[in-house]
Amino acid sequence: MPSTLTARSASALSGVVRAPGDKSMSHRALILGAMATGVTEIDGLLEGDDVLATARAVEAFGAEVERLGEGRWRVVGHSGFRQPEGVIDCGNAGTGVRLLLGAAAGYPIAVTFDGDASLRKRPMKRVTGPLADMGAKFDWPGEEDRLPLKLSGGALSAIDHVQTVASAQIKSAILLAGLNANGVTSVTEPVPSRDHTERMLRAFGAEVGVLPAGEGWRITLKGGQTLTGTAVSVPGDPSSAAFPLAAALIVPGSQVTVEGVMLNPLRTGLFETWREMGADLTVTNRRTAGGEEVGDVTARHSKLHGVVVPPDRAAAMIDEYPILAAVAAFADGATVMRGVGEMRVKESDRIALMAAGLQACGVAVEEEPEGFTVAGGPVRGGATVTTHGDHRIAMSHLVLGLAAAEPVTVDEPAMIATSFPGFVELMRGLGADIASE
Ligand code: S3P
Repeated sequence: MPSTLTARSASALSGVVRAPGDKSMSHRALILGAMATGVTEIDGLLEGDDVLATARAVEAFGAEVERLGEGRWRVVGHSGFRQPEGVIDCGNAGTGVRLLLGAAAGYPIAVTFDGDASLRKRPMKRVTGPLADMGAKFDWPGEEDRLPLKLSGGALSAIDHVQTVASAQIKSAILLAGLNANGVTSVTEPVPSRDHTERMLRAFGAEVGVLPAGEGWRITLKGGQTLTGTAVSVPGDPSSAAFPLAAALIVPGSQVTVEGVMLNPLRTGLFETWREMGADLTVTNRRTAGGEEVGDVTARHSKLHGVVVPPDRAAAMIDEYPILAAVAAFADGATVMRGVGEMRVKESDRIALMAAGLQACGVAVEEEPEGFTVAGGPVRGGATVTTHGDHRIAMSHLVLGLAAAEPVTVDEPAMIATSFPGFVELMRGLGADIASE
């Protein structure tokens, strides 16, 4: 990967592409496969850096992991995690480390987890707190609440956890720990968050209860259940499909189809918001794959208008606000995004970086502690944007540059490979002008 990438205003984009495999499901397929007994065959696995770090981690925990072909992987689990040698390095992956912490907590092992500079800045107590309530022990060789951390796992007791923030990572970590806990573990969410862990646990033979609780759900899981290896088919990641589709919406004359996109309603908040903005977005060939609804999504260049995004939609599109903000810059009127304080603790402070990047490109942005408002209109561009190594900040600004008056450059593009290897080639194949400098 070059040291910077520059996107320039393109002629119309067109074509049919496939999005890479869903990142959330890919992490889960590897982890559940390693916790299970027997063979798990995965197809469509995202071979991005984040997921490859999880593959190495589960191998270190004793699973046999083999790549059979492109996106095709076999995991053989030996009914649980064994003591690994060395440190478990989760790279850039918040989902990887948080789910692995939950999975590992129920086994009598002592293990140090670490990550890259970005992951070392992200809060971990949101997961280690509930796991400590279940009986796991944590030491912080450096700063408390930050990687690296040492987990001492073992006998766990079930807890009833009530979440203040809807977070699928926290929910999943507790449920995975709950598999090896004494009693029935429950997690209550304020609003529903992505439910891939619950769905996949069922596919591996576990019983998971889900009942409505207020605006959200209460999920229950009895400890002592064993998982059995199974086949997992990973559909395309809607969070990645968002980038080529966004480019089609803002570049005049474009039409792009992304095939095989996962359409789990807890992941499609962005598509709903785009439609409210007037986007010409259609779904064809709806089908079920890997226990999820899947379809081919087509976006055509559209005249968009600003909207107020309902804050209770945040969980269903939390990773998509950066690309929404980039698209909103081309709409008529302002787009208001509130209730998204969680964006500040992702791979970077995404509210601050989107505000800074868009402002550098001549877009008016008002930043608030838990949200931001983007004013729409013609976009000047003509800036070099700091991404702090955040893949979604980089891709969002490159898409912006395809429709801005002047080129847009991003630093640290190598991080795009954490979630979307092949992004630049895929975009070029659609006609985008993205060049290394
Ligand atoms: C994820 C959940 C979300 C999301 C992340 C993937 C998951 O994080 O931002 O990219 O796979 O469970 P939170 O659960 O912390 O909101």
